[in-house]
Amino acid sequence: MPNEHVKQKIETMFPAAADVPAAADFSPNGGLYEGGLLYLVDGQVKRWSGASETVLSPVCVTKNGETARRPMGPAAMLSTEAALDAMRAAVKAYDRGRGAWPRMKICDRLRCLKTFADKMAAAREESVRLLMWEICKTRPDAEKEFDRTVAYVLDTIEAVKELDRANSRFQEEAGILAQIRRAPLGVVLCMGPFNYPLNETFTTLIPALIMGNTVIAKFPRFGMLCQAPLLHAFAEAFPPGVVNVINGDGRATVGPMIESGEVHALAFIGTSRVANILKKQHPMPNRLRCILGLEAKNPAIVLNDADLDLTVNECLTGSLSFNGQRCTALKLLFVQRKAAEAFVERFAAAVDALPFGMPWEKGVKLTPLPEIDKAKTLQGFVDDALAKGAKIRNAHGALTNRTFYFPPVVYAVQAGMRLYTEEQFGPVAPVAVFDRVDEIVEFISASNYGQQASVFGRDPGVVGPLVDVLANQVCRVNLNAQCQRGPDIYPFAGRKDSAEGTLSVSDALRCFSIRTMAATPDNAANKAVVRAILDARSSNFLNTDYLF
Ligand code: G3H
Repeated sequence: MPNEHVKQKIETMFPAAADVPAAADFSPNGGLYEGGLLYLVDGQVKRWSGASETVLSPVCVTKNGETARRPMGPAAMLSTEAALDAMRAAVKAYDRGRGAWPRMKICDRLRCLKTFADKMAAAREESVRLLMWEICKTRPDAEKEFDRTVAYVLDTIEAVKELDRANSRFQEEAGILAQIRRAPLGVVLCMGPFNYPLNETFTTLIPALIMGNTVIAKFPRFGMLCQAPLLHAFAEAFPPGVVNVINGDGRATVGPMIESGEVHALAFIGTSRVANILKKQHPMPNRLRCILGLEAKNPAIVLNDADLDLTVNECLTGSLSFNGQRCTALKLLFVQRKAAEAFVERFAAAVDALPFGMPWEKGVKLTPLPEIDKAKTLQGFVDDALAKGAKIRNAHGALTNRTFYFPPVVYAVQAGMRLYTEEQFGPVAPVAVFDRVDEIVEFISASNYGQQASVFGRDPGVVGPLVDVLANQVCRVNLNAQCQRGPDIYPFAGRKDSAEGTLSVSDALRCFSIRTMAATPDNAANKAVVRAILDARSSNFLNTDYLF
C-alpha cells in the first residue's frame, strides 16, 4: 500500500507558476526563451522566421487553476530548403577536401577548438537551466553533463596532440618510405539523443571537426534549446561553414540532406529503426560511414554470493539514475534464486526511498519525463508483465502524475513479457530470477542487443568463466559495478542492434578520419625531394613539425 504522505506529495508535486524560484528559471522574467529560433549557417547566427514548435517542459506548472507542461519558447522547425542551405555551407567549406579547413594544419584547427572551449564556459549556467527544464535533468546532473562536455573537448585536444606527434614520423618498410597521417572524411551529420543532448552530440561533433571534416549538427526534439547559448561561440571560433547547427523535424531536414549524397559520415545516437531508415536514404550507402549509438538491454547478473549492500546500491543508480533514461542503464536485473527474495525486498525499499521532485530541488533523484505520454508507454510494459503473472513489489511503484511516473519494481519478469526483451528506456526496474548461469548466457546470446552487462558476485570459479562468455556478447563487462559509458577515455561500443563503431576520446578521432599516406621508393633522389618539401614547409600533410 502506498504511503498516504508520498501519494499526496506526488499529487501536489508540480509548483504554481509564481513559485518557480528565479535562480532555477530559464528565463529571467518568467517569460519565453527565444534562443530556439536561432540557427547557425555558414558562420552566421540567424533567426528563423518560418514554422516553429513550442517546446513544452516536462515540468508542469499551475496557472489560472490549470496544471500543464510549461511552455518554454519556440524552436525553429527549419524547412527542407533551409536544412539544405546548412548542408551546402558545410559542402562549400569542405570543397571536396580542397577547403581551407580540411587542409589546415592540425595545430591551427586546435586553436579554433581551444577558443571555442574558452567561450563555452560562459554559457554554462544558461545551458544548465535549459537542460533542467527541457529534459528535467537534476541540477547536479545537468552541471555534470556540461562539465563533462567541456572536459571532453579539452581531452580531445590532448589526444590530437598525441596523435599528431606519432604521425609526424616517417616509416620505412621494404624499400618504401612513408608518412601516414589521418585525413578527414568530408561532410559529417551529427545527431545526438535527448538524454544527453549536449554531451552526446559533442562527443561526435568535436572529433569530427578537429580531424578536418565540416559538420552539420542537428539537436534532438527534446533538447533543441540547450545548445542555443553556444551558437555565437561556434560562429566566433570556427571559419564560416565549418560548423552548422540546425533544429527541425527529422523527416523534413535529415532525410533530404542524406538523400543528396553529400553527407559522408553519419553520427547518430538513437534507435536502430531510425538508423536503418537513414542509412538507406543515402543514394550510395557504400560512401556513408556510420557511427551509431543505439538501444540496449543491459542486464545485471546478481549471483547468490553477491555483496547485497553494494549490489542494491549499484542496481539502484544503474537502473534509475536520470529516471533510467540512459542507453547504459541496467534494464533487467537477473537475481539467482537464493538471493532473489532478499534482493527484491531491499531493492524495492531503496527505490521507494528515492527523493523525487523538480530538477532544481536539492537531493532530488527522480524527475518528470520529457517524452510525450511516456508514463502511459511505461505503464503498457508494466501491464503486460502484470497480466502474465508479475507483481509490483514496491509501495509507490507506478504512482503517476502527468509527466511523472514513480518507478515500479516488477517481479518476477520472465520470457514472453515485453520487459524481458524490449528496452523500456525509463523508470521501470524489472527483476527476473534464475537458477543456472546457462539461463543468462542463453538470454544474452539470443538478445538483439550487446552493449554491456554487470556481474555481481565473488566466486572466481563462477565469475571468471561468466566474464569469458559475456566478453563475446557485449563490449563491456562490469564487475560488481553498474554499467556506464565513462570515463570517456575508455572505449564505448556495442554489438548487434546496440551500436556501430567505437567511441572514446581517441577512438572518435579514428572514426572521423581515414589513414592516408604519402609514400615513395626509398632512394637518394626521392629522399632529396622529400627533404626539400620538409625544408620549404610547402606541405601541411608531408611535414615533420609538431608544434605542441
Ligand atoms: O545514454 C547513453 C550514454 O552514453 C550513457 O552514458 O553511462 O555516462 O550515463 P553514461
